[in-house]
Amino acid sequence: MSQSTTQSGFQAERIDTSSKWYDLFQKGVELGTWNVEKLFDEVGFEEDRAIWESLEPGERKQIRYLLSGFLDGEFAVGEDASHHLQRIAGAPCFDDNEEMEMYMTMFTLTEHKHTQFLDVYMHEVMGEQDVFADLNPKRGGARIPIVQATGLGEIFDRQGQLTARAAHSRDPVDIAKALTVYHMIVEGLLARGGFYSINKLSRNAPLPLLNHGFKFISTDEGRHMTHGVEALSELIAKERAGEPEFQGVSQAIVDVLYENVPAVADFGYMFTDAVDDPLEINFNDLLMRVGHLIDGQFNEALDLDMDHRTVVGRVADRHQECLERDIDDAVRTYRDLYQRKRGVEAAADGGR
Ligand SMILES: [Fe+2]
Ligand SMILES: [Fe+2]
Repeated sequence: MSQSTTQSGFQAERIDTSSKWYDLFQKGVELGTWNVEKLFDEVGFEEDRAIWESLEPGERKQIRYLLSGFLDGEFAVGEDASHHLQRIAGAPCFDDNEEMEMYMTMFTLTEHKHTQFLDVYMHEVMGEQDVFADLNPKRGGARIPIVQATGLGEIFDRQGQLTARAAHSRDPVDIAKALTVYHMIVEGLLARGGFYSINKLSRNAPLPLLNHGFKFISTDEGRHMTHGVEALSELIAKERAGEPEFQGVSQAIVDVLYENVPAVADFGYMFTDAVDDPLEINFNDLLMRVGHLIDGQFNEALDLDMDHRTVVGRVADRHQECLERDIDDAVRTYRDLYQRKRGVEAAADGGR
């Protein structure tokens, strides 16, 4: 039987071209196939290198920390998308949604391109810094010391554990937990908080290639968020319709948010107070922004009852804990540890 008509008017036999995931797939094909190497060729590295050289050491440190969080984060989401999300999209609770599985291929492609952009950009513009990449072949290298030292690495570990478990069990509640940490927290709060910070710092450090790349990345992430909200909404709707195996989905989403939202403070610490905020990102502005995002994602988009003040309070508490810890010392410890494992001497300028 032919499926119904889409915006473009095409119909198909096996694919539902009126599906919202078909639409996302098609948008991904149109918009998500920007070519990272072509962007490097077209915009070039020269201007970014010149601006990078002109920055103060503290300003460079702030940008390097911010991009380090992105690099390790993009790597982790790319791995978990290809290993686990693809299998989750094929779970029975999504009703053999072929179009969602099609969309996931575009999703995974874009995550790997984000890693590609960041890894090459950091190497070409900021110089050789990452001496930790060969330590853990399974994950493509040890985490960058600042990511490990702030505790941000834990959210990526949690994402890996929850997506792996959900891919294995294909249980709706496990899937709700996995998608919450992946789409709502890592993509929805951390990455979007990061985009906000990149925008803000570009007033003081206008790096044209970096800004170009991040425009593409944030557009891609917008589609990823739409997918996450749609998938979670479907699970919530089935719970509200009384389907037995979906009971507990909403509570699981709330629990995962409260448990993991302090990661926002770990990420924020890396580029605000930790480095005296020379590029004027301002942690309190970031918190406000995150508060609005939480309202939009959980209360409005998912129609859950989330108190954003409670959440922001948890982030602020974690931020205070970070301020009371000696993160610089922890960075040195991780760096020394990694370098001992590789059997190399300590880098002169401290690396990332
Ligand atoms: Fe990404
Ligand atoms: Fe993403």
